[in-house]
Order: sequence, then C-alpha cells, then structure tokens
Amino acid sequence: MKLRSIELALPDPAAAARFMLDIWGMAPGEVRGQTHYLRGSGPYPYLVAFEQADAEFVRHTTFVCTAEELAGIRAKAAQAGWPLTDTVSADPGEGHGVIVELPEGELLRFLVDTTEVAPITGRDLPVKLTHIVFNSADAEASGHAVEDVLGFRVSDRTKGMVFVRCNDSHHSTAFARAGFSSLNHIAFEMEDLDAVMRGIGRMRDHGFAPAWGPGRHGPGANVYAYYIAPFGPVIEYSTAVEKVPDDYQAGAPEDWTWPPNRIDQWGISDKDFDGLRKAEERFRFRREWQPAAPAANLA
Ligand SMILES: [Fe+2]
Repeated sequence: MKLRSIELALPDPAAAARFMLDIWGMAPGEVRGQTHYLRGSGPYPYLVAFEQADAEFVRHTTFVCTAEELAGIRAKAAQAGWPLTDTVSADPGEGHGVIVELPEGELLRFLVDTTEVAPITGRDLPVKLTHIVFNSADAEASGHAVEDVLGFRVSDRTKGMVFVRCNDSHHSTAFARAGFSSLNHIAFEMEDLDAVMRGIGRMRDHGFAPAWGPGRHGPGANVYAYYIAPFGPVIEYSTAVEKVPDDYQAGAPEDWTWPPNRIDQWGISDKDFDGLRKAEERFRFRREWQPAAPAANLA
C-alpha cells in the first residue's frame, strides 16, 4: 500500500499549478480538460491534481494497493457501514478500485492496476508525497477506524496527533486533534536535507517565509518546512521519515514530550499557529457520488 496523490478542487487550478511548477518545484504531468496534474521525479504520473470548481475542497486522497488489499478494504468498509463507491480512475495512471468515506468525511481512493511513468531527474523536484494529514474532531477514533477497516497501523500518538502508517514508512497519514475535520497539510518528500533547504531558499526568493520550520519532528524524525500556499492549503517540504519494523511499539503522548519552549528537535524556528490554523480550515471534503446501497456493498 502506498500513498500516491491528492486531488483538489479549487476556483483557479491554472494559477495553483503555476505556483507549484515555477516556485515550489514540481514538474508538469498532464492537463486534461481543466484539470492540471503535477508530478515529481518518481514513477507516479502525478502527485497533485487541481480540478476547476467554484469552491475549494478535497476530491480524494489516492493510495495504490494490491488486489488483495482492495478486496479487504471493500469488504470491511461495507461491513462498517462506510459510504463507498466503485470507481474507474479518469486521472493519469488510470486504474480502478473504490472510494471510501471515513467517519469524519475524509475520502480515500484505493486503486489497483495503475500505470507508472519513467522517473525523471531533477534534484529540486519532490520525489513523491510522503504524507497527507487530516484534522479530526476525534483523532483517536479516526486512528482506530483506519486500523480496523483499512488495515493501517497507528505508529505513535502525541498530544497533537495520531500518526498512521500503511507500509514501513512511519506515517503516510495522521489525524490532528483539531476539533474539526479538514485537510491539515500535504507533505512532499524531497531527495535530501539539501533539497529541503534549497526549496526554502527558492521560496524566499519569491517572498515566501515558512509558517513553521525548518525543523526536525519527534515522531518520524523527518525534517520539515511548512508553508501556506497562495492557493490556500498548507504544504510541506520534508525528507527522510523514519522506517519502522512491523512490531514497532506505538508511543503514547507521554513518550513524546518536549522541553519548555521546544516543539521540535532543533528549536530554531517559530510557528505561525494562527496562520496555519486558518489555512487548515479551508479545504474540507466533498463527496460527489451517491454511496452504493448497503446490500450491494455486502454482495
Ligand atoms: Fe507533515
């Protein structure tokens, strides 16, 4: 199971794509109709899709998986009563699978039989997405739900987050204890620490300062620099999230505490709590399909 992409709807996809190409550092994938697909250096045909819509929302977050994983998710989501629909992807990489709606409205798409593209070189390109984090009214319940239904595993719990993995990467998603449900941020995996720092420099050249970072997190131990994108959401340069073994013991909030005035390993950057919170409230989830009838789900 791997996190592949996120599909966003927003009023001006061309402007969002321009920023991600010219400043953030992505490469063009395709344009299909009014949807712009942007890629990184890795084998996925795109990492981010911007589709034209009057409002801002998340269409879905896409994972690629095996047929066995897909069958398990389909059966367990139906059993749990989660809204779901079969889907054939019209996005680059094609494939087919299912979209499920989590208890707080997050829409996750699981695809099989997707195609990949040849990797490209470019040391300033993100390689892939490394995690998508959601805000939750009840992050604890969300963590349990994805363990039970999707087969994900909780890696660590902190005062602020429940970190969840779907492979040996410490987290591919997380649920922030926010009190509401929305997209928290999108994190791009950079080649190394230097690529993160050059990204910060490139953003600075264009007048953007980090909303938080650079720094190094506790859980996952990844380096980060968070920005509020001009088209709305919080985006992150990141690198080298820790790999964990199958029997990794999930830490509890009391295992992840900081000394006074510290919220990361380095302590060199301030955090714009208010600005980040406002940006995190912008992209909610919108289901554009009618769920299959429960009886059909169980068939
Ligand atoms: Fe992150």
